[in-house]
Amino acid sequence: MTRAILLTGGAGFIGSNFVHMLAEQRPDWLCVNLDALTYAGNMQNLAMVEGSTQHRFIHGDICKTEDVERALDACGDLPISVVHMAAESHVDRSIISGLPFVQTNVLGTQVLLDACRARGIERFVHVSTDEVYGSLGSEGFFTEDTTLAPNSPYSASKAASDMLVRAAFHTHGFPVLTTRCSNNYGPWQFPEKLVPLMLANAREDKPLPVYGDGMQVRDWLYVEDHCEAILAVLERGELGEVYNIGGHNEYPNIEIVKTILAAMGKPESLITYVTDRPGHDRRYAIDASKIDATLGWRPRWTFEQALPATIEWYASQVEWLQGLRTGAYRDYYAQQYGSDSEG
Ligand code: NAD
Ligand code: DAU
Repeated sequence: MTRAILLTGGAGFIGSNFVHMLAEQRPDWLCVNLDALTYAGNMQNLAMVEGSTQHRFIHGDICKTEDVERALDACGDLPISVVHMAAESHVDRSIISGLPFVQTNVLGTQVLLDACRARGIERFVHVSTDEVYGSLGSEGFFTEDTTLAPNSPYSASKAASDMLVRAAFHTHGFPVLTTRCSNNYGPWQFPEKLVPLMLANAREDKPLPVYGDGMQVRDWLYVEDHCEAILAVLERGELGEVYNIGGHNEYPNIEIVKTILAAMGKPESLITYVTDRPGHDRRYAIDASKIDATLGWRPRWTFEQALPATIEWYASQVEWLQGLRTGAYRDYYAQQYGSDSEG
């Protein structure tokens, strides 16, 4: 192994896709995956790397210095870079209670920064979100210079973490890079988010809950493209810089829902308009010209290719999806690894 990546949150949606990408594209890198296995973490997402010497799972919490140190120790003598994805990530949950978001996204990020600074790591990529910029009208795009104006407890906690990362760079010269990406879709996403929830409900002929008028716009990016952008920033990004990531792929929610129903041969009568999300951001759209011009990254997948591929993937993963719907996925870690904290 030539280097170690300490990945936080690698049993979640984007994290597990990142693990798979590293296994394929950087087989000589050790991936040490620190994850607390909250409801959003699922070891089944990582079944493909089970037993691999290139992947080491550490069951632990970024809010605890001793857990972060254990993960850093697992990197051995290799040069270490960090990719920080662990977070509470769902806006609706943050509306019910903001505290877990402040705990992991704010406190956890500071604990991680401090422990990594004490260890002297090489690079620290902080994976943030376009939601920190707030909401757009029908015109314009978020650039890296757009003022932060988060509107939900989730996005406020992510914006706070961005500021802590920025401060670590300015105060301590800590080698950080920040990414801000738009909405992801693809394999292994927890079915509380729009695309997998609609796929799961449609499969079971259950109502598809559309918030408000369904005309909120998101800028959709296939998760593999996001992972490749993070890798580009990790390898070639300039320290202290922020990189927006997106695909110029804007759709109103209702169009996404109708496309899913049509692809699955299900009737539009399943669509059920429900009370809007409080404080619902109307539109997100990313200007990703900086990462294109400076690092040569741009999405490889079109929506027309990747949405059908995603629909097909979920159709082929009925057991995985059922496990998430029933909660059975939570038993998998104990069955595979017993009560040990490393696997
Ligand atoms: P996710 O909810 O699917 O996964 C989060 C992972 O973090 C889970 O495996 C969970 O167990 C772990 N985790 C939570 N709290 C932890 C803690 N205290 N210590 C250790 N691990 C903990 O999230 P995701 O959608 O994969 O998002 C990953 C990151 O990307 C987040 O930081 C999110 O803000 C950001 N992001 C997500 C999207 C998107 O569309 N999903 C878009 C842009 C940015
Ligand atoms: O923009 C990046 C962000 O995208 C990430 O930072 C977040 O972690 C991620 O969860 C996502 O946030 P959103 O709130 O945009 O994603 P969500 O899938 O929850 O909702 C997408 C849109 O669909 C949003 O306008 C709300 C709407 N929606 C969502 C659900 C779950 C519905 O209309 N009905 C639903 O049941």
